Amino acid sequence: MMAGMQTLKVIYDTDPGVDDAMALLLLARHKRIELIGVTTVFGNADIATTTRNALYLKQKLGFSAPVAGGAGAPLVGEPDAPPTFVHGMNGLGDIDLPDITAAADPRPAHQLIIDLVKADPGEVTIIAVGRMTNLERAMREAPEIVGLVRQIVVMGGAFGRNGHTGNVTPVAEANIWGDPDAADIVFGAAWPIAIAGLDVTQATVMTETYVAELAAAGEDGAFVRAISAFYQNFHRESAGLDGFYVHDSSAVALALHPEFYQMETGAIRVVTEGIAIGQTIIKPDGRNYPPGAWDGRPSQRIAVGVNAGAVLKFYRDTLVGSG
Ligand code: BDR
Ligand code: CA
Repeated sequence: MMAGMQTLKVIYDTDPGVDDAMALLLLARHKRIELIGVTTVFGNADIATTTRNALYLKQKLGFSAPVAGGAGAPLVGEPDAPPTFVHGMNGLGDIDLPDITAAADPRPAHQLIIDLVKADPGEVTIIAVGRMTNLERAMREAPEIVGLVRQIVVMGGAFGRNGHTGNVTPVAEANIWGDPDAADIVFGAAWPIAIAGLDVTQATVMTETYVAELAAAGEDGAFVRAISAFYQNFHRESAGLDGFYVHDSSAVALALHPEFYQMETGAIRVVTEGIAIGQTIIKPDGRNYPPGAWDGRPSQRIAVGVNAGAVLKFYRDTLVGSG
């Protein structure tokens, strides 16, 4: 088997969330993914709601991985009001939800992460598409996991490439802005991190036609259309977009198909106070500056370009069973 064809063992750290649910669908259906854990964090809704939604998705999509509830507030301060205007009051575009029969794992999210990583040293990929709060807590309580994780793939941040700078403020992306202190700590640890920020996720758009075709192809596509109608409406009204940005599924695409992306490397800092709070700034490798805040930090990888057509084809092929 080619190295690139290897199965990935994945922990999905998430705040479902419409686009989180769409990415979870990919993880549940892709042949090269072994989903071993789902951990939740506050963000698109409060923690009770994101955990309830993850449990709903477990029963709806039929995966067996445990779901563990995580952080309900950032490292510093209080959580901000959830963006109900983006994801609906229930976080899933206000579709009707049935009673939830699936039960959460008794462990908190950070403990499930620690246990799963330690059980499989060097093998576990963490796909993190919400605030970095659970990851910060996991590495604080068990620093040894930093050397045991295979890779962390993040949807978050905006590095100003291709004109993409922020979606919550002119310089900050939601996942990082929502817990900048945790993100700065996580990005400064020596585990290998690859980041799909707005630089590439806003360059990848699912149009109304694309979603209609997905819906016509089967039950999974119809589910995508149902949960994304509210989300699409938000994008139309706020950005005049015929479609919506592909945020969290881009992290799954980057994990499975790095060849779809152009990457840059360097040390990353997150602004943790002031008007630029939540901004992500990379010091590209090879650029020399006087001593500063990036010194001594590990080189991480950020996506700066994307073959958007390939990502959209990958999503469709995975759902219709040919991916
Ligand atoms: C990110 O923020 C959340 O609203 C989305 O689920 C995505 O992870 C986009 O900025
Ligand atoms: Ca998310």
